[in-house]
Amino acid sequence: MTDIKCASDGPYLIAGPLEITDPQGNVLKIAEGKTAALCRCGHSGNKPFCDGQHKAQSWKGSEAGKQP
Ligand code: FES
Repeated sequence: MTDIKCASDGPYLIAGPLEITDPQGNVLKIAEGKTAALCRCGHSGNKPFCDGQHKAQSWKGSEAGKQP
């Protein structure tokens, strides 16, 4: 099972191994033992990855999740 964590006021954290396909069809590989940090705030200049801009923007995202 894939485990995705929502960092408080930060990115989605997803443990590898995994593959991410960008909008152009490029496959970005995250190796086992590595963690991908995917932008959750929308401010990253390196989407889909987090580049730390959530901190500079003082983005808040710590609400509890709701079961879909
Ligand atoms: S979550 Fe870090 S830049 Fe968006």
